[in-house]
Amino acid sequence: GKGLAVFTSGGDSQGMNAAVRSVVRMGIYLGCKVYFIREGYQGMVDGGDNIEEANWSSVSSIIHKGGTIIGSARCMDFIKREGRLKAACNLVTRGITNLVVIGGDGSLTGANLFRQEWSSLLDELLENNRITKDQREKYKYLHIAGMVGSIDNDFCGTDMTIGTDSALHRIIEAIDAIVSTAYSHQRTFIMEVMGRHCGYLAVVTALSSEADFVFIPEAPPSVDWKDKLCDNYLALVAALASEADQVFIPEDPVPNNWVEKLCKRLQQERRSGQRLNIIIVAEGAIDREGKPITAELVKKVVVENLKQDTRITVLGHVQRGGSPSAFDRILGCRMGAEAVMALMEATPETEACVVTLDGNQAVRLPLMDCVHRTKAVAKAMADKNWDLAVQLRGRS
Ligand code: F6P
Repeated sequence: GKGLAVFTSGGDSQGMNAAVRSVVRMGIYLGCKVYFIREGYQGMVDGGDNIEEANWSSVSSIIHKGGTIIGSARCMDFIKREGRLKAACNLVTRGITNLVVIGGDGSLTGANLFRQEWSSLLDELLENNRITKDQREKYKYLHIAGMVGSIDNDFCGTDMTIGTDSALHRIIEAIDAIVSTAYSHQRTFIMEVMGRHCGYLAVVTALSSEADFVFIPEAPPSVDWKDKLCDNYLALVAALASEADQVFIPEDPVPNNWVEKLCKRLQQERRSGQRLNIIIVAEGAIDREGKPITAELVKKVVVENLKQDTRITVLGHVQRGGSPSAFDRILGCRMGAEAVMALMEATPETEACVVTLDGNQAVRLPLMDCVHRTKAVAKAMADKNWDLAVQLRGRS
């Protein structure tokens, strides 16, 4: 059977184990020899025990576990050609020419580069007698299929990344717990949530927890944002929010008037009888000038202007831990099965794909198209072109 290996790379996320399980079982079902690569790219470079054949039962009882049982790492060695050369040698000597990578955009980009270099890596290995002529010929094509595992939901081309739904559950549980103590003391709580440069976790949790205010890195545009962004889930959620009048999103582009708006909103809530306020701050939140809006800064503003008893909770890695939700388990299973099928159908001409969710369908998209779009969002944000950033993040 064909040699197929699965590995997880970058930050872990809930649901990765479901994806690993699905790859292993679908691979075996289709007659492949399936391997785990432990510790991400590092394990591929180091070889040895890190690359181990998997069987049906080695992925039993993992679907409910958070994290990734095969380990993950951010690997510096793979960035260098020497590292990729070692990795190629480790794969060829085991007959592995099909790779399933579960990770974020950096990990997927690395896989694509590896594929593009594959032929020249093999030539060098043959020259140095590290592989045989037969191996050079037999394993001349490398096929790649990716899946996006990240709690941030920050990848273009998919409606949901594996782990986001579980992180939302974790955050909501924490906010619900905070609300009861905030209520008792009439306090204001500022919760910092993860998401790096993406406000998705912040917006969705703000909405579902009746937060009074949310700060996200993608400050929404000013006027016709509803029409412009109707395809974008983030904006859809924002539109809902404005109708429900529960979350205030600073859609006014006038720089730095958020202090006034925040204070007005919090005061209104208290005057109408609310005993608490909840403010969600995405870890990457910034103002229109690109300056960070941190939980500490928001606290200072609230205390100085309103004299409210205010506390900060930084949820941190709790959000990435714990067991995956039903949604993430199924998502991981579906993506894994589709990735293996994509590899089995690949021809030498097939480009690397990423399996994503589009309107509840598992689809295969050209990996680099999605990576480029994701990078374009980052660039638009760095250029302070928020309209473009949100537009690019939407579905195409
Ligand atoms: O990308 C996932 C994520 O959890 C982000 O939300 C966060 O910014 C980052 O990883 C934290 O990275 P680390 O685990 O290396 O501290």
